[in-house]
Amino acid sequence: MTQTRGQGFESGITGVGKYFPDRAVTNHDLEKIVDTNHDWIVERTGIHERRFADPGVTSTDLAVHACRQALDMAGVKADELDGIIVATVTPDMMFPSSGCVLQQKLGAGRCWAFDLSAACSGWVYAASVADSMIRSGAARRVMVVGVDVMTSIIDMTDRNTCILFGDGAGATLFERLPEGEEGMLALELGADGSGGEFLYMAAGGSAKPASAETVANREHYVVQDGQSVFRAAVQGMAQVTLNVLDQAGVTAEEVALFVPHQANLRIINYAAKKAKLAPEKVMVTIDRFGNTTAATIPSSLCIAHEEGRLAKGDLVLATTFGAGFTWGGAVLRWVLGD
Ligand code: COA
Repeated sequence: MTQTRGQGFESGITGVGKYFPDRAVTNHDLEKIVDTNHDWIVERTGIHERRFADPGVTSTDLAVHACRQALDMAGVKADELDGIIVATVTPDMMFPSSGCVLQQKLGAGRCWAFDLSAACSGWVYAASVADSMIRSGAARRVMVVGVDVMTSIIDMTDRNTCILFGDGAGATLFERLPEGEEGMLALELGADGSGGEFLYMAAGGSAKPASAETVANREHYVVQDGQSVFRAAVQGMAQVTLNVLDQAGVTAEEVALFVPHQANLRIINYAAKKAKLAPEKVMVTIDRFGNTTAATIPSSLCIAHEEGRLAKGDLVLATTFGAGFTWGGAVLRWVLGD
């Protein structure tokens, strides 16, 4: 669905941050655990290694580092935030929200805080909420975090899924921009609940509360029909990429950097090709970090900024597709830099 964004204040990203656990796990490391091999993983996914958090490390433990980096970059204190949105499928616990846990860890005063569940589309969904709140005047500064500790819900005996995911956090501070400055140009969100059967975690919610049986049946792990998700994701990513460009009235040549969700290099390359985006404009981090679910786009934005791949005024395109199914796209002007 195209977002009707209306008139109002402009929002832009004034700080970015990222955090990955230190422990790098290579494809060769995984060869020792499941029946797989480095060449298969690289050829089918583009992943060389990913980071795994140590047991007991939570999503907000990762997020707090990413948020501090974003706040420092923007020169904003935690208690100046109006709100925190944490996009995640691996909250620290069912409740209170990881938003509230993070607020306390950050020392962010009494700003509102909540979690948003849209799996791999979480960051784009959360960015849309932050933009709307800033646009309407309801908020001036919103921290949008994408974070997942996927190792907490991955079955390390399932080679179909355990090779794909990693742990990480990305933070983006959205602020009201001075009059005359342009930030978010277009947003597009969508969902198709009929895709739910292809990527899910069965137990732990009200449908199947945790029990000895759900544990014995290994129902607290991600289940994925890889081929069905792949087929839907290839088409869905390409479509939302074309749609949001069209909505922004921007051509592929005008885009400085395409920052796609990092689920599979083949999906990324297909979407880029369909949108006629040159390979050098495509941000790829999946080789180093795997699929970190809600964290892929904000952490990639941070890495792009740190690597000098983004300059003030650049047009950034970010698109995603994930469980739900959900999808989303954003075209924004980069306001960071000199
Ligand atoms: N190592 C080695 N072989 C593996 C393997 C692994 N880790 N995982 C699966 N295989 C095998 C399969 O068993 C199958 O063998 P068979 O032909 O003897 O049955 C073969 O490799 C091909 O499997 P297939 O599932 O068709 O591979 P694929 O090309 O579809 O790639 C994924 C698998 C998971 C990488 C791919 O489907 C994918 O990326 N899906 C979408 C993921 C995604 O976007 N998720 C969204 C989250 S946001």
